[in-house]
Amino acid sequence: MRYLIVLLPLLGLICCKDSQESKMEPLDNISVIEQAHTSKPHPGKIIMEQECYSCHDPAASMTNRIAPPMEAIKRHYIDSSITKKEFTEALILWVNDPETEKKMPGAHKNFGPMPYMPNPDEAIALIAEYIYDYELERPDWFEAHFQEAHKKGMGVCKCFELQEPKTD
Ligand code: HEC
Repeated sequence: MRYLIVLLPLLGLICCKDSQESKMEPLDNISVIEQAHTSKPHPGKIIMEQECYSCHDPAASMTNRIAPPMEAIKRHYIDSSITKKEFTEALILWVNDPETEKKMPGAHKNFGPMPYMPNPDEAIALIAEYIYDYELERPDWFEAHFQEAHKKGMGVCKCFELQEPKTD
């Protein structure tokens, strides 16, 4: 009898534990679904931040930049007529040979040459997909600056000749 008194609460504990566990199950399922819905960063974004943002960082100021922000590259390469495939090919061509024909000669004049850095084509294709499909981070001043540099009648892009607008 004494054993029963000791055992009963123990049994109760085990039972409760079990029932708690079965209650946990639907919760786990919800979190799995939630995970699938919260978009993980695109792999191209991760590679781009690792391989390209050391120079093409959107956060660097105009005066301290060592290369154009990726958003500027996007706008010089991607217009309404270029397909994702064409852009991907152009980006692969450029990264494999940064001496090839330039779409941004002003950037070359201002920042000097981009060094050749071996990157697998598949990685560049992922970067291209991210740039093509998603909105990129850009500095606050970028929009006004870009519009100013491409005003109608100004002819070629003056992106890298204009100064960054003062923010104070
Ligand atoms: C070590 C610095 C550095 C890194 C890292 C770098 N770039 Fe550049 N990139 C530059 C510079 C400097 C320029 C401007 C010079 C030029 O156009 O010749 C440039 C220009 C470009 C251009 C414009 C080319 C044109 O048509 O004029 C593209 C596209 C580009 N980079 C893509 C990339 C991509 C994609 C990566 C990452 C895989 C990358 N860059 C990594 C320095 C860098």
